[in-house]
Amino acid sequence: MTADLQTQEAAPNKAAMVPPKFQPLEMPELEYTPGLAKEMAPIYERVKNVIPSVEWPFFAPYVKAINDLKKERNAVILAHNYMTPEIFHCVGDIVGDSLQLAREAAKADADVIVQCGVHFMAETAKLLSPEKTVLIPDEKAGCSLAESITGADIRRLREQYPGVPVVTYVNTSADVKAETDICCTSSNAVQVVESLGVPEVLCLPDEYLAQNIARQTNVKIITYAGHCEVHERFTPEELREYREAHPGLSIIAHPECPPEVVDEADFSGSTSGMIKWVKENHPDQVMMVTECSMSDNVAAEVPGTDFIRPCNLCPHMKRITLPKILESLLYMKDEVVVDPAIAPRARAAVERMINLPL
Ligand code: 13P
Ligand code: SF4
Repeated sequence: MTADLQTQEAAPNKAAMVPPKFQPLEMPELEYTPGLAKEMAPIYERVKNVIPSVEWPFFAPYVKAINDLKKERNAVILAHNYMTPEIFHCVGDIVGDSLQLAREAAKADADVIVQCGVHFMAETAKLLSPEKTVLIPDEKAGCSLAESITGADIRRLREQYPGVPVVTYVNTSADVKAETDICCTSSNAVQVVESLGVPEVLCLPDEYLAQNIARQTNVKIITYAGHCEVHERFTPEELREYREAHPGLSIIAHPECPPEVVDEADFSGSTSGMIKWVKENHPDQVMMVTECSMSDNVAAEVPGTDFIRPCNLCPHMKRITLPKILESLLYMKDEVVVDPAIAPRARAAVERMINLPL
């Protein structure tokens, strides 16, 4: 039996233990009728530049069913910037980078959070919204960075570097966050490191993010060999070739890329920082050196800009699809829980970052 089948078969037993309002619901009709086409036309307007009209009849019934079900479950959908446009623009209620999603979800007046992103993001949402039911449409949506380090690795590093504070990227499990002094994101990492007022810090687990931070501060940064499998694939040669082929091209890169790739870029920032840069600068032609779906999402909103897509897909993010989101809301799966033995310490590391006056 495959892991997928085990998950599906487990659902009815779990459902029997949940309150009546969370009981499994019937699968709705998913037909693209003329009436549905008319009703969904305003939503298609948002994505017509990036979703071909021949694909819309497949997506539209799911979008309608999911948006109806959100009301029934009193649910909000968090959609990370790397979700595909039919998720990001058509069913997402709160969109943004990993930290923005968790912060906004904590403020939302909802019983249920559906995390359209990867597992560490769902855990962060659960840490900041412990009273809400947090679902992820595919619990196997992992992350190469988050999987590169464990809580035991941090305990070993603390022995190796006694007294050196540990700053970890939010792209980590709750187990790792629980061993951490303070979390950071790609947008606030330098400020978090400097806020500690110490001469050296351990900056984990993304080696390239840590090296990119080290160039912007006098604090000594001790790195770890974790990498994002999407961003580590970009090379400076590739970026130079794109520049030669497209004179006047603007290049913006995520700081999970190697420093020599960031050196070739005109700007580097978190996913939300990159989106802001495009919206503020309106370049004629831009290449976003990051996961490909983000270019589609921005292209839907910035029609005057031509996007050159080097296209590295995150296989974990791409596990999240409209059919799985619908099943998630129908059957209330896969629920994300954080071990109560570690949750308070993990939450404290995230909250220390959030509470910094940045
Ligand atoms: P941010 O959206 O926080 O920049 O993170 C990028 C990323 O790789 C998330 O998986
Ligand atoms: Fe992890 Fe990289 Fe995928 Fe983000 S893009 S979820 S860091 S593997």
